[in-house]
Amino acid sequence: MSDLNNILNSFKIKFSSVKDKDDLQNLKSEFFGKNGSISLQFKKMSSLNPEERKNFAKELNTIKDKLVSEIEKKFKDFESLEINQKLKDEKIDITLPIRSIQHGKIHPVSQVIDEISSIFSEVGFSVAEGPDVESEYNNFTALNTPEDHPARDMHDTFYLDKDKKTLLRTHTSPVQIRTMLNGKPPFKIIVPGRTYRCDSDQTHAPMFHQLEGLHIDKNITMGHLKGCLNYFIREFFEIKKIKMRFRPSHFPFTEPSAEVDIGYKIENGKIVIGEGDKWLEILGCGMVHPNVLKNTKVDPKKFQGFAFGMGIDRLAMLKYGINDLRAFFETDYRWLNHFGFDPLDVPTNYRGLSR
Ligand code: DAH
Repeated sequence: MSDLNNILNSFKIKFSSVKDKDDLQNLKSEFFGKNGSISLQFKKMSSLNPEERKNFAKELNTIKDKLVSEIEKKFKDFESLEINQKLKDEKIDITLPIRSIQHGKIHPVSQVIDEISSIFSEVGFSVAEGPDVESEYNNFTALNTPEDHPARDMHDTFYLDKDKKTLLRTHTSPVQIRTMLNGKPPFKIIVPGRTYRCDSDQTHAPMFHQLEGLHIDKNITMGHLKGCLNYFIREFFEIKKIKMRFRPSHFPFTEPSAEVDIGYKIENGKIVIGEGDKWLEILGCGMVHPNVLKNTKVDPKKFQGFAFGMGIDRLAMLKYGINDLRAFFETDYRWLNHFGFDPLDVPTNYRGLSR
């Protein structure tokens, strides 16, 4: 058998056992590489006489073309096999139902904080904040709250240490102290934030939200306080006229102090705010006590002003007809979906974004 026939036979045997692209690549180098069997035959040609060379070259080229085309064909076979396997593995099943998309909603408390902030910012108040963990001094002492005041009791307050020096703030009023200690009058701020008390029933949660207001300047009177709160309540409840009364009260940090009630009635089982012969308490307020001003290095002979504090959750419940306060903080998505606000559906009296 000639060399060429041997080569052809050995190719056939090896070719039949090729399993993948790598095998094929090895086979190709074995025959066509630098010292491959076919390449060596080409080198051999120079030693032949012209007549022999002509025949040999013809035969060698035929064999070479045949092997090259077989290798190429096999290579393509492997490639299409690979592609088909990929297509099979990476198939996308377009008949699968899509995953449901849940849109976020704005919690009524956040919504109401935004509404209140924009109403007060229209008349010059800026928003201040303070920490939830507060010192006993800022929360009580600086606010003129005596040692024997019931609010200081363990039954009311979450203390964070044995000595009762730090606590979870029981109201947003300590931010009055922080603001006045850190700046110079005049002050005109509102403070929305979380507050904490040992309390839990249908209308009380151990964590709730308050909004504090403070306006200190020269010649600020109770008249300013009344005008400011009247404006706020009308804007917040979106009513032109509101029945409102100041009831004498007591807070250690204000003198005189008052609680503000608004008139309401029940019509067809629903509460109507602003008219009627029933009264609803909505906030506490008063003229800032001179002791509070002294404690914060503000001269009470030169400056005076008013403060107020209200429960945000209660205002949200009243405005949006929500009955149970505890549901506010149960993080139930269905509840939020029902009572929450669409971020793009801006209520009429919300001016934070549109102006
Ligand atoms: N801090 C009071 C409370 O939590 C509310 C309050 C009443 C705040 C009168 C005030 C105020 O600023 O002047 O019950």
